[in-house]
Amino acid sequence: MSATALFRGRLLWFEREPAGGDDTTAFHYIEDGAIAVADGTIAWSGDWSELPADYRSDDYVDHRPHLILPGFVDCHIHFPQGQVVASYAGSLLEWLNTYTFVEEQKYADPAHAGRMADRFLSMLLAHGTTTAIAYGSVHKGSVDALLGAAVSRGMRMIAGKVMMDRNAPEPLTDTPQSGYDDTNALIAQWHGKDRVEVAVTPRFALTSTEAQMEMAGALVREHPECLVQTHLSENHREIETVAELFPWSKDYTDIYDHYGLLGPKTLFGHCIHQGPREMERMAESGSVAVFCPTSNLFLGSGLFDLDKMRGTTPATRHAVATDIGGGTNWSMLRTLDEGYKVLNLQGQRYHPLRSFYQATLGNAAALGMEDRIGRLAPGYEADFVVLDSASNPAMALRAETIETLSEELFLLQTLGDDRAVAASIVSGVTAHRRGNA
Ligand code: GUN
Ligand code: ZN
Repeated sequence: MSATALFRGRLLWFEREPAGGDDTTAFHYIEDGAIAVADGTIAWSGDWSELPADYRSDDYVDHRPHLILPGFVDCHIHFPQGQVVASYAGSLLEWLNTYTFVEEQKYADPAHAGRMADRFLSMLLAHGTTTAIAYGSVHKGSVDALLGAAVSRGMRMIAGKVMMDRNAPEPLTDTPQSGYDDTNALIAQWHGKDRVEVAVTPRFALTSTEAQMEMAGALVREHPECLVQTHLSENHREIETVAELFPWSKDYTDIYDHYGLLGPKTLFGHCIHQGPREMERMAESGSVAVFCPTSNLFLGSGLFDLDKMRGTTPATRHAVATDIGGGTNWSMLRTLDEGYKVLNLQGQRYHPLRSFYQATLGNAAALGMEDRIGRLAPGYEADFVVLDSASNPAMALRAETIETLSEELFLLQTLGDDRAVAASIVSGVTAHRRGNA
């Protein structure tokens, strides 16, 4: 088979989470590497000098001396919040009510949603993110716009319309029945079409009645193929309020548990303030806790405790994410940097081999997609990010003294941003090149 595209550069991808800095069997690093792509899939990867004759060509994309990694995966982001980022607010509920619930009303207009869908995907690619699981607005049309745009670009993307039927402005509310019907319609139209999927998305317990939570549970039972996303234990006022709304609950996690929403397909954003009982349920159900460091800092929500997640039996699955627009940066590099600081504040270490694993294969595994994305291995979908470790003056200065791969990754995460993304490749096609709008 002949390749439809051929790339050359330094290759890095992970096989599993590295135990630490000297766990060299956890990853592949190829100093002069080749990736041959056929029909959007990696046909061959390895040392340039060993590229099989069938795939050889003078016509290749030369990314030397840059690093080529699997594209970043963002496990929690809000499509309608690109224009909410950097809104001056104290904490979660003030931020939601003052800015977010106002902005999201604009997505009732399909023309606005369509324009923003294109901008959203361009922003992701400019930051090296090739897959995300996104919250839409309450409007079904917002998810139609986003997934339609993703299909046009050949991107792997997951999204759901948020279900919320109380404690939000009237134009932003659905009903238990309409939230159920719209989600079902989205699944019928989009789930499994090309590379896109639909996620069942009750926004959080604070904005859903018991009747709506029942409907969310029904959707999860009826569609075991779908991922589920919601928010959990982000902010103390939020936690107090949901305890009043669901007075029978043992704790916040118990509310989602009661409606059958815990499980290996569910991603819970934040998970900052959970107690031991809640952690036990997270762990035994295989649910995923999503670390959103820039958002947790910006909204003053608290410090995600990774050691607490790792300390359960079994370890609680986790992911890392931007949470745009409570989060303050679209870049997974900036996100990893803030994550490092949040953990360091708690005396926890976050080795760059681990953080880059997490932003690629680790997050793919959180979505249950580690057999399709997150590696540069044959058979995997050809989504890559090309990283330039000397892409701004401060990086170039520091790069002069870098000697090891771990040091280079740590430089990328500490000083890198979208300028470090030389290119993003989707299904073997260059979808973003630095400097091009
Ligand atoms: N909890 C409920 N909705 C949201 C949201 O949009 N952002 C964040 N950070 N938390 C939430
Ligand atoms: Zn969120």
